[in-house]
Amino acid sequence: MNAREQIDRLRADLHQHNYNYYVLNAPAISDKEFDDLMRQLQELEQQHPEYYDENSPTMRVGSDLNKDFVQIAHRYPMLSLGNTYSEGEVSEWYERIRQSLGEPFEVCAELKFDGTSISVTYEEGKMVRAVTRGDGEKGDDVTSNVKTIRTVPLVLHGDNYPARFEMRGEILMPWKVFETLNAEREAREEPLFANPRNAASGTLKLQNSATVASRKLDAYFYYVVGDEVPTDGHYENLQLARRWGFKISEHTKKCGTLQQIFDFIAYWDVERKNLPVATDGIVLKVNSLRQQRNLGFTAKSPRWAIAYKFQAERALTRLNKVTYQVGRTGAITPVANLDPVQLSGTVVKRASLHNADIIESLDLHVGDMVYVEKGGEIIPKITGVDTSARGFMVGEKVRFITRCPECGTPLVRYEGEAAHYCPNETACPPQIKGKIEHFISRRAMNIDGLGPETVDLFYRQGLIKDTSDLYRLTARDIKGLERMGEKSAVNIVHGIAAGKEVPFERVLFALGIRFVGETVAKKLAKSFADIHELADASMERLISIDEIGTKIAQSIRVYFDNPSNRALVERLEAAGLQFTRREDDRTHYTDKLAGQSVVISGVFARHSRDEYKEMIEQNGGKNVGSISAKTSFVLAGDNMGPAKLEKAQKLGVRILGEDEFLALLN
Ligand code: IVH
Repeated sequence: MNAREQIDRLRADLHQHNYNYYVLNAPAISDKEFDDLMRQLQELEQQHPEYYDENSPTMRVGSDLNKDFVQIAHRYPMLSLGNTYSEGEVSEWYERIRQSLGEPFEVCAELKFDGTSISVTYEEGKMVRAVTRGDGEKGDDVTSNVKTIRTVPLVLHGDNYPARFEMRGEILMPWKVFETLNAEREAREEPLFANPRNAASGTLKLQNSATVASRKLDAYFYYVVGDEVPTDGHYENLQLARRWGFKISEHTKKCGTLQQIFDFIAYWDVERKNLPVATDGIVLKVNSLRQQRNLGFTAKSPRWAIAYKFQAERALTRLNKVTYQVGRTGAITPVANLDPVQLSGTVVKRASLHNADIIESLDLHVGDMVYVEKGGEIIPKITGVDTSARGFMVGEKVRFITRCPECGTPLVRYEGEAAHYCPNETACPPQIKGKIEHFISRRAMNIDGLGPETVDLFYRQGLIKDTSDLYRLTARDIKGLERMGEKSAVNIVHGIAAGKEVPFERVLFALGIRFVGETVAKKLAKSFADIHELADASMERLISIDEIGTKIAQSIRVYFDNPSNRALVERLEAAGLQFTRREDDRTHYTDKLAGQSVVISGVFARHSRDEYKEMIEQNGGKNVGSISAKTSFVLAGDNMGPAKLEKAQKLGVRILGEDEFLALLN
């Protein structure tokens, strides 16, 4: 077999294995065998760039190129559905159809998936484009992100698919993936996604498709659209589409009577709780495409289809009191303590009240009867108050606390933020413990054998008051404490010592400076030679770094302007932690681009977009997102967006090609 044949064979095999695994749930080979095949293909493709195929299974891995989304007009508009909330309304719809058609008809009943809708175009059996719903007329081109979703076929099976058609469907984040993602975000004190729908749509709009690939999205398809679809039956077309490789729900049913529709609704209202993905209702569609055409559309939605929305589960219970939790960064979370109540199969005793504004808008009083909902959200929330239940005995109005419940320090509220904070970073116990827990966590110093309980124990024993105290602990100090044998004590001390090998960027993240997450820490570690240079950096210098805005820069300044933080860093440095950039990360500075604002657009051949961004910063320039009169020049690759090109020309902004730019620097 020559290379071309080998590549073709590997691509075909991998497409089939993907389908077996992700759509049929029946893998024919082990994960390792799959990875080996994928690696072989990647290597061959690297050796033979002439056989590039944008739909190769290797494209699933995602690329690190950043790009702006391009808007694309939908060939067939993406309409929404009329909503109904009662069986009465469903009967009325059914009756209208019966009257309009005046002939027998069938209805296809489907689950209404609660994600974000997508339209994927296929030509000659190959995926060419994936576009979001947008405003229904035009949407964002998210092709490279959608390509990372394993259940969306890149190349179709068989040969009886139309030459050109669109598959409409829903991109979803399965509950399990959503829960893990949120747990990770919580550990990093990043804002949580309220529900899998937001998580899915947020993920789809990320600029980095490698991150999208890591988020494990899923997709169900529910509509074949095109000028020439195989049969007159919507249901039948979906069954064919399953054979072409699409993931089609098995829970789709053709109903000949209204009673069958009601049975379907009643069944799924309960059973949906056992599905791996979120659903928020049932969609009913007249099955015959000919009849659909006869019924037609109103301005916003088809007459031939309707959505029945499930009631969000809600319960009424009493608010006993509001307590307040203090997080690692000092953020205060108000928590409603409730009379226990059954909701979606679990007992709810507490619900988040989010922030002071929400408490105020609910006009909450202690003793109120409140509505708790668990809609698509994982954390139950209070959605309203039954004021009619307020008797003479209603308690006091809930007023947000003004002092920290743990240390008594007056709370502050930063401009533009909904949360209140306790500013006593260095002496407020939950903040101290939270900071140590963050410091030892897997993505930070990753200290083996230490967890939150042990941190709490050491703190209570007065052994540690900040992260630097960890480096003074000896096995003798800790053995003999609760459940702490000689062996675990030695392990912990070794685990702590191993942190001295952790590179600068992770140590920087481990410090827990507000808004300095992993990505920002990486950027900082690349831009500064050591912690002292960073600690002394001016606001201007900080802001000139790509993706570092005023908010992050300010937080870095606040951190290092606090003498006790400086002293802590000194103690950690004395303990042997890495506060200096490794030699291979050292960047060479010139000021050739000092004071210049540069916009990057298009696709590049010599370096990646990120590399160019870095070069701009290393030479004193600033990366900016959009073109304005202040832009010094545009670094343009192939396929620069037409809107950007026009704007640059209109404002007379210089456009430099890749080679010109590199010549400028050398
Ligand atoms: S059919 C013209 N079927 O619900 C009909 N939509 O408001 C097009 N959805 O934007 C939609 N599950 O994102 C259809 N089985 C299903 C669906 C479904 C979820 C979403 C879709 C659409 C919205 C309708």
